[in-house]
Amino acid sequence: AGLHAVAKTAGKLYFGTATDNPELTDTPYVAILDDNMMFGQITAANSMKWDATEPEQGVFTFDQGDVIRNLAQGNGQLLRGHNCVWHEQLPDWVAFGTFTSDELISIVENHCGTLVGHYTGQMYAWDVINEAFNDDGTFQQDIFFNTTGTAYIPAALNAARATDPNAKLYINEFNIEFAGPKATALQNLIKELQSEGVPIDGVGFQSHFIVGEVPTDLVANFQTFVDLDVEFAITELDVRMTLPETDALLAQQKKDYETVINACVAFPECVGVTVWDFTDTFSWVPGAFPGQGAACPWDDNLVRKPAFDGIVTGF
Ligand code: XIL
Repeated sequence: AGLHAVAKTAGKLYFGTATDNPELTDTPYVAILDDNMMFGQITAANSMKWDATEPEQGVFTFDQGDVIRNLAQGNGQLLRGHNCVWHEQLPDWVAFGTFTSDELISIVENHCGTLVGHYTGQMYAWDVINEAFNDDGTFQQDIFFNTTGTAYIPAALNAARATDPNAKLYINEFNIEFAGPKATALQNLIKELQSEGVPIDGVGFQSHFIVGEVPTDLVANFQTFVDLDVEFAITELDVRMTLPETDALLAQQKKDYETVINACVAFPECVGVTVWDFTDTFSWVPGAFPGQGAACPWDDNLVRKPAFDGIVTGF
């Protein structure tokens, strides 16, 4: 059975995957990617980020993003937009710019409005804000916060809503899958935005987990977000291990994937699950965490791992 098919049977909108433009020359990979019973949703891993879409101020390039959009539309797959505002993968003119608060606010509004507007009517959801917090619950000391305080957040959300009224607007974050200062800080932000009438529809739990370390309070923690009257999604799931992989690690990884899927199934507010690419060949993990890998449900040879069955069982 396809993963999207079993997710739909469980009442979810989608099971999806991230993918990236350079991967689309791999024919056996694309054959799996194109199967809309396997993946009912696609996220561009890089090509809709700020450095890819507005490399020079006011100069927008959607060619690479459109390739991903066209692929998903051709296959009848939903899209999640990723992302509008993030402190990484910024073009130099933003990262090293000198702006007044008002200037940077209008830059954020123009970027989000133009990006989201380009894909109006085509995105299920947008990660409008990505990784705004530190693990201790303070705001990331990035160009946006340092220049505007938190004013860039409602600016981005309002601009996104104005150019695509039907896209669900998300804040996407990692290390909020368990209770702690970061989850609390995000909840406080959501309450503040809601009290000010700023649009916020959903929370994206990135869910970059480690084998054997899926948070034990995952379900309880999801409930604390659902209590705020927002939907949520698992947006970047992978479960990495210290290499080399062993049968025992792969067996635990299967359980871990199943646990995460179970936690989504427990909530009607959990709309779907996206893996951050589906094969170890294209996983970001070895590049970001030296010595770790084997985080995806398909191996380097595009063979399904026990984790695949864990996902099916979880739904
Ligand atoms: C990663 C991509 O997968 C890599 O190809 C890129 O080099 C760095 O970014 N959290 C996010 C994603 O929100 O955008 C990141 O994607 C992974 C961590």
